[in-house]
Amino acid sequence: MSAPARLRVDLAERGYDVVVGEGLLAGLAEHLPVPAHAERAALVTNATVDRLYGDAVRAGLAAAGLEAHTITVPDGEDAKSLSVAETGYHRLAAIPLRRDDLVVALGGGVVGDLAGFLAATWHRGVAVAQLPTTLLAQVDAAVGGKTGINLPEGKNLVGAFHQPLIVLADTQTLATLPERERRAGLGEVAKYGFIDDVAVLERLEAEPAAAVAGDPTVLTEVVRRGVAVKARIVAADEREGAERMLLNYGHTIGHAIEALTGYTRYRHGEAVALGMVAAARLGERLGVSETGLAARTVALLDALGLPTGGVRLDPGAVAEVLARDKKARGRGLRFILCATPGRAEVVDDVPAGAVEEVCASLA
Ligand SMILES: NC(=O)c1ccc[n+]([C@@H]2O[C@H](COP(=O)([O-])OP(=O)(O)OC[C@H]3O[C@@H](n4cnc5c(N)ncnc54)[C@H](O)[C@@H]3O)[C@@H](O)[C@H]2O)c1
Ligand SMILES: [Zn+2]
Repeated sequence: MSAPARLRVDLAERGYDVVVGEGLLAGLAEHLPVPAHAERAALVTNATVDRLYGDAVRAGLAAAGLEAHTITVPDGEDAKSLSVAETGYHRLAAIPLRRDDLVVALGGGVVGDLAGFLAATWHRGVAVAQLPTTLLAQVDAAVGGKTGINLPEGKNLVGAFHQPLIVLADTQTLATLPERERRAGLGEVAKYGFIDDVAVLERLEAEPAAAVAGDPTVLTEVVRRGVAVKARIVAADEREGAERMLLNYGHTIGHAIEALTGYTRYRHGEAVALGMVAAARLGERLGVSETGLAARTVALLDALGLPTGGVRLDPGAVAEVLARDKKARGRGLRFILCATPGRAEVVDDVPAGAVEEVCASLA
C-alpha cells in the first residue's frame, strides 16, 4: 500500500486538495483539515454506505474534535430532490449547524451532489468535505464543485457551484461496490485516458479483470490519474468553458441514450461507454480520429464488461435530443472527438447524417 497521492485543484482562495489512497477513512482525523471554530459536522450519507463506513467516519470526526450528527438520506437518485433537501435543512437547523461548522458527504455522486448543495445554500455556504465512495464520484462527481438536485422537469436543474474544503477518495471503499457500479465507473475512468492521459488506457488494457474486481493498486493508479486530469481542467476552467467541454467526451450520444431509455436501462458510465464507441467511429469517419481508435475503444470496453452495442436508437428521436442541445447553443452539432488516445478536441458543425450512421452502428 503506497502513500496517498495529493492533487491540488488550483483555484486561488477556493483551491483544495484531492487525496487519493487506500485506507483514508480509517485515518480520517489525520487527513481532514478542520476549519477554525468548527465544532459540529453534519455527516450526510445513506443507509447502505453508513453500514459500511459510517462508524469509521464518525470515529474520525470525533478524533478531529467534531461533534458528528448523521443525516441519512434515501439510497438512489431520488434522494436528489427538493423534498429530501428540505428534510435535510430541517435536520441542519435542529443540530444546529452553524456557519463555521462542516458538512461531510459520505457516499456516491448522489450523496455528494445533495450534501454539496445543502452546504452551498446553508447559511449561504458552509464548508463541505467530500468523501466519495463510488468510482464515479471519486473520478468525477466529487471534484469540480458542481452540486445540485433534480426536479421532475429535469436532472440537476437546481444547483450551485460550491468547491469543497477537501476531497478524500479512499480507494479501499471501491471493493464493496456492486461490480456493475465498478464497471460503469471504469467507463468514466477510460474517458480520461482517451481525452488526456493514455497511461490510464494502458493500465486498464493490461489488467482489465483486476480493475473490474476492485484491485486497489490498479484502481488507485487510474483514479489518481483521472483526478489529475479533472483537477487540471477544472482549475484551468472552473465554469463550463472550452477545456471543461473535453470532459464531455462520449457524453453527447451517451446522454441521448440515457434520455431515450428513460434513465433506467443503463448506468451513466455504461451509456458513456456506448457514447465513446459512437464518438470514436464518428471521429474516424470525419477523419479527425486516427484509424484504429474505434477498434481499440471497443476492445477495452469489452474487456471491462461495458456495453459497446446492442442498443437500437430511433434516429429521429436521437436527432431531436441532439437538436435540443444545438438549439440551446444556436449552432450546428458539436462533438468532442478524440484525435488520438490522450488528445481530444471540440468539433463543430458535425453533419447530422454521420451522427445518424454511427448511432445505427450501435444496434
Ligand atoms: N457533480 C458532478 O460534477 C457530477 C458528475 C457526475 C455525476 N454526478 C451525479 O452523480 C450521481 C451518480 O453517482 P453514482 O454513480 O456514484 O451513484 P450513487 O451515488 O447512486 O451510488 C451508486 C450505488 O452505490 C452505493 N454505494 C456507494 N458507495 C458504496 C460502497 N463503497 N460500497 C457499496 N455500495 C456503495 C450507493 O448507495 C448506490 O446504491 C448522479 O446523480 C449524477 O448526476 C455529478
Ligand atoms: Zn459522466
